[in-house]
Amino acid sequence: MRKVLERFVVFEGLDGAGTTTQARLLQQTMQHAGQSVWATAEPSEGAVGRLIRAALRREQVLEADTLAYLFAADRNEHLFAREHGICERLRTSWVICDRYLFSSLAYQAVETDPGFVATLNAAFPLPAWLIYVDVDPLTCATRRAERNQQELFDSLDFQRRVHTRYNAILADFAAEQRMRIVRIDGNQPADTIAAEVCSALGFQPI
Ligand code: TYD
Repeated sequence: MRKVLERFVVFEGLDGAGTTTQARLLQQTMQHAGQSVWATAEPSEGAVGRLIRAALRREQVLEADTLAYLFAADRNEHLFAREHGICERLRTSWVICDRYLFSSLAYQAVETDPGFVATLNAAFPLPAWLIYVDVDPLTCATRRAERNQQELFDSLDFQRRVHTRYNAILADFAAEQRMRIVRIDGNQPADTIAAEVCSALGFQPI
């Protein structure tokens, strides 16, 4: 049985769903409530994460399965790095992570064998909270167009497939009761979403 990490909160969603904004707002709420919080993201800022970002910017061309290995390697380092990894931080604080293994299961499995991606990620612990910010692919595409940054997974067709995969992944994990899944309608205003996130986690919105 997979380990579940208490006080570990993960945000997931399509590109443009607003996970980064929501992770920041939750961090502020928790800090306001006097909690110690470390906010982080995947791909991480470590050496493997930097290589992944070069691939996302299309500066480095990599095979889809190579990218799946890299995301898993980056995650391993992000989790278990001795002095500053997620597990170490969880000893003394909450950890909020913008994307985690569910992104690999959703994105990499569009272009590689889903079983292979699941195997690469099978040993990683689960978060106590998975918050899925659900926004339809077309709305996300409009938001991304405003940002004017072209990344590897930006096409609407690809994001539609990722969206379908997220739905399947959430259904697959629904039976895992130790991980609480919070699915939020991300088409609402950011502060409405933030209030829903807070109340799910038992915090008073600021
Ligand atoms: P994103 O959160 O959009 O970062 P940024 O705001 O810096 O652009 O994440 C980068 C991309 O990486 C996004 O398209 C999702 C993708 N991704 C995967 O394909 N697999 C993974 O395991 C992770 C963590 C991210």
